[in-house]
Amino acid sequence: MRLILLGPPGAGKGTQAANIVKKYQLPHISTGDIFRANIKQGTDLGNRAKAFMDKGELVPDSLVVELVEDRLQQDDTKVGFMLDGFPRTLPQAEALDSVLENMGSTLSYVVNIVVDPAVLVERAVGRRICRDCGATYHVKFNPSKEDGVCDLCSGELYQRSDDNEETVSNRIAVYTNETAPLVDYYKKSGKLVTIDGLQDIDKVFADIEKALEV
Ligand code: AP5
Ligand code: MG
Ligand code: ZN
Repeated sequence: MRLILLGPPGAGKGTQAANIVKKYQLPHISTGDIFRANIKQGTDLGNRAKAFMDKGELVPDSLVVELVEDRLQQDDTKVGFMLDGFPRTLPQAEALDSVLENMGSTLSYVVNIVVDPAVLVERAVGRRICRDCGATYHVKFNPSKEDGVCDLCSGELYQRSDDNEETVSNRIAVYTNETAPLVDYYKKSGKLVTIDGLQDIDKVFADIEKALEV
């Protein structure tokens, strides 16, 4: 299965991607996670991406597209993939189409998680992530059993540096201007599946499972 998760910041892409890759045994390709790993390692790519991410702006297409092209050439994607946070612009979507065409393959589904913009800031600002295993929590909606400690691996929970109110607001505006047009793009291709992301995390996943079984 070759999947894309679409949705604004805080919609629940990462949360649902974790469920999907576990059930369907797919590699999880999150461009945001790849950039954050590069920032942590201090690579040239990380240094270049950081300036954009800190402001809540998109990293330029030229840096993102090549990265994803390379990633999709790796062997583990033969069984399929779960793209989370890519594509985010029309040029990225077109580049993905031509990569897939060259590989003789096509997308299975584009899962669009729809959420009322009013909840997005609270979701992002309350998010906490495990430093060791990457598990995602929310201080109110999905708290860890012990404050600041991961349920799965006892790792330390941290807050993303772009999860403050000002940066999140800009990320939402950037999504509306640059990424939201992809919904129409994929609607036209007949691959779009729309999921109500305002429900509980488990119910959102149940709806995704149902949609992917069709
Ligand atoms: P990225 O890391 O992709 O961030 P994003 O798109 O802003 O999305 P988020 O990760 O914030 O939200 P999510 O939908 O994954 O939500 P989550 O499941 O964690 O990108 C970061 C930056 O990198 C970008 O700003 C850009 O600079 C750069 N970048 C990345 N890709 C790029 C690209 N292709 N092109 C250019 N630049 C790129 O959930 C959020 C919170 O809500 C969590 O706390 C969770 O527990 C909670 N939650 C989830 N579901 C529910 C629910 N149903 N009910 C209640 N709470 C819930
Ligand atoms: Mg995410
Ligand atoms: Zn953990």
